Amino acid sequence: MDTTILAGKDLLTTEGTTLEQLEIIMNHAHMMRNRCQRRLETGLFEGYPLLHRRVALAFFERSTRTYQSSLAAAQELGANVIGFADPSATSVGKGESWQDTIRTLACYNPSLLVIRHPDAGSAQIAADICDFPVVNAGDGANQHPTQAWLDVHSLAEYFGGFAGGGLVDLRVLKGKTIAICGDLKNGRTLHSGIPLYRLLGVNLILCAPDELQIPTPAGIICTHTDKLEIALSSADVIYMTRIQFERDGMENLQHLRGCYKLNRELIEQTNPKIAVTHPLPRVKDEDREIDEDVDGLPNALYFRLQTPCGMWTRMAIFDLLTRQAGN
Ligand code: NCD
Repeated sequence: MDTTILAGKDLLTTEGTTLEQLEIIMNHAHMMRNRCQRRLETGLFEGYPLLHRRVALAFFERSTRTYQSSLAAAQELGANVIGFADPSATSVGKGESWQDTIRTLACYNPSLLVIRHPDAGSAQIAADICDFPVVNAGDGANQHPTQAWLDVHSLAEYFGGFAGGGLVDLRVLKGKTIAICGDLKNGRTLHSGIPLYRLLGVNLILCAPDELQIPTPAGIICTHTDKLEIALSSADVIYMTRIQFERDGMENLQHLRGCYKLNRELIEQTNPKIAVTHPLPRVKDEDREIDEDVDGLPNALYFRLQTPCGMWTRMAIFDLLTRQAGN
């Protein structure tokens, strides 16, 4: 396994990913899972390229998991972290351009920058500014590649892709049907997921109201529906998403609030074994896409598997990007 395949690169999109790259990231993420367990037991950092190096986190848009798991991943690799979770803590509020904020962080010699920004294309602009690897942690409604890697990692773990004890066997996902439900138009996590699903031979059911639906992606077996029950009944995995009212053009779609709600009773009636996933956040109270009564099901993966996989997968990515060829 060539762990220098991503050395020095930017990770801005999942488009163009090869099966070899996907397998390397999955295997590396699985190894990080084991390393985290060893560090809990021994307290010792093992020799990572990022040990005592610097990682910069620049989050111009809100985040719980992507920020916290990126921070935890960098710390777990022994790095020092600079940056911010909230642009109101920077001089952007005084009129500084976000590009100048990035130029400033770059002056402190980080080995890696993780950026989230509300504008599509912003991660590419940051990558043009920086002469070290940049990871896109979400640029508008465009891409969110680390979430897509961690979603595939979670599904590979869940469906026994690591059961052989050796390297990952991603064929466990071939022919599986994933129903993606909710805001398909604005969901950057699924925009990043689709190229990986194509690579893996996964089939899709795209479930959304007309206003939020997307066309059939090239190279994927896909059906469309606007009914959650139909999506649920014939899928192996349901991937629920939140409706992103903060995005452009969404002002007039308030009637779609709470349009899809999954609860335990519906799962038990339609497809009790379905794996329930969500990139999170889920919306609270009456608009909640997944009722809290689902959380305790063994097939509810969003907190139990996807959230910890977020740290392991980001550890893997940060480590792979900051390796030197030949290490
Ligand atoms: C998603 C995002 O920010 O794109 N969350 C995440 O990073 N896990 C999904 C969302 O905001 O709805």
